[in-house]
Amino acid sequence: MELNQCCYRNNHLERSWDIDVYISQGGYEVWKRVLAGELTPQEIIDEVKTSNLRGRGGAGFPTGLKWSFMNRHAPGPKYLLCNSDESEPGTFKDRDIMRYNPHQLIEGMMIAGYVIGAHAGYNYIRGEFWEPYKRFTGAVEQAREAGLLGENILGSGHSFDLHAHLGAGAYICGEETALIESIEGKKGQPRFKPPFPASYGLYGKPTTINNTETLASIPMILAKGGEWFRDIGVANAGGTKLFSMSGHINKPGNYEIPMGTPFKDLLAEAGGMWKGRQLKAVIPGGSSTAVLPAENALAMTMDYDSIAKAGSFLGAGSVIIMDDQTDMVKALERLTWFYYDESCGQCTPCREGTGWMYRMVHRIVQGKGRPEDIETLKDVSGKIMGRVICGLGDAAAIPVASFLKHYEHEFRHYIDHGCSIYDRA
Ligand code: NAI
Ligand code: SF4
Repeated sequence: MELNQCCYRNNHLERSWDIDVYISQGGYEVWKRVLAGELTPQEIIDEVKTSNLRGRGGAGFPTGLKWSFMNRHAPGPKYLLCNSDESEPGTFKDRDIMRYNPHQLIEGMMIAGYVIGAHAGYNYIRGEFWEPYKRFTGAVEQAREAGLLGENILGSGHSFDLHAHLGAGAYICGEETALIESIEGKKGQPRFKPPFPASYGLYGKPTTINNTETLASIPMILAKGGEWFRDIGVANAGGTKLFSMSGHINKPGNYEIPMGTPFKDLLAEAGGMWKGRQLKAVIPGGSSTAVLPAENALAMTMDYDSIAKAGSFLGAGSVIIMDDQTDMVKALERLTWFYYDESCGQCTPCREGTGWMYRMVHRIVQGKGRPEDIETLKDVSGKIMGRVICGLGDAAAIPVASFLKHYEHEFRHYIDHGCSIYDRA
């Protein structure tokens, strides 16, 4: 398997975040071609559609299609937003783009802004990301000093500027409409959709919002061609993908691999299971995607269709590995607390349901579970799904439903014996 072909291609280089290093690797060549009129907005959209690039933040929406929703000739301001708020438990890939290859992200943002007719772009960066924020803003300054960003760029008549906005630690601000509210200076709470940001976004203006990895992929797609990117991956999932590998493995970290790589090979690349233990379960796409038992995971390849067939979702590519000594009830207790803590509180099923689910799982772990708790957990999670404003409600319900689907016996053991299955020995 060939690693690091796109977003992480420069990460091994000394001071890879410097503009000189990026330029030495062919950086900003595509941007100069765009400014020279060698690539029209429509040609860029067509190339991105050919590449089969799908949104890397988690939803997998086709990027070329999203860009085509914008009318670049419509009067009035339009905005390009980059979502670098990655906060999904298990996800830590975007920070390394900003730390080690920020200019490729900047080039991608400038190209995307040009395509949609925007003259301003914002990168919304997770509040805890001090180092990535400094690297990104330092790179923006370098690009501005080099005349690649700002007014009348390289005499082309095109103007575009970039700003970074540091979040304040709320997971919900990664939801695109909450992110927009937050940039506007309001409380970060999701809006109803539709209208989607493409028609009513930042300050009520047409806005395109893409994930960091999505935008950082653009310069390479245009430099090497949409077919090059598409052919790295598999049908319905073009290109490379960054996977954040965490949990009970020998070499946790980020891995950029071709879409469609067998899960087994990714696990081996990450050093295999730690302490010689066996694989018990995998969360393949971040905590809001369903947990899979080992046999399902070992049969899948790392792409949208195969992971869906296995019973989960590729999500943001955040693979959490659990070994054969993992207490699944305690693992779920931790996840339910997270969603309870992060719910913005607008919708009753999410605000009340997340707390209710956490309290039930918590009392099961305390050895005080009641026989009816399992059915109540299934009922509450089922009643949250599809009855709320944003994805957080579903994200809170999915782990509960999937942990109970595959590991109900562990919950029953706690309720019947007051302790974990691992306490029997
Ligand atoms: P979504 O499916 O509602 O939307 C995906 C994108 O397509 C959005 O930008 C939306 O505006 C656009 N879109 C969809 N239908 C459209 C239409 N008809 N017209 C115009 N635009 C349209 O998904 P959402 O809520 O944006 O993202 C959910 C995913 O985010 C989850 O699957 C989860 O995996 C992921 N996630 C990632 C996190 C991270 O840290 N990276 C954190 C939490 C969740
Ligand atoms: Fe807020 Fe939860 Fe409703 Fe999303 S689902 S808007 S997080 S209360």
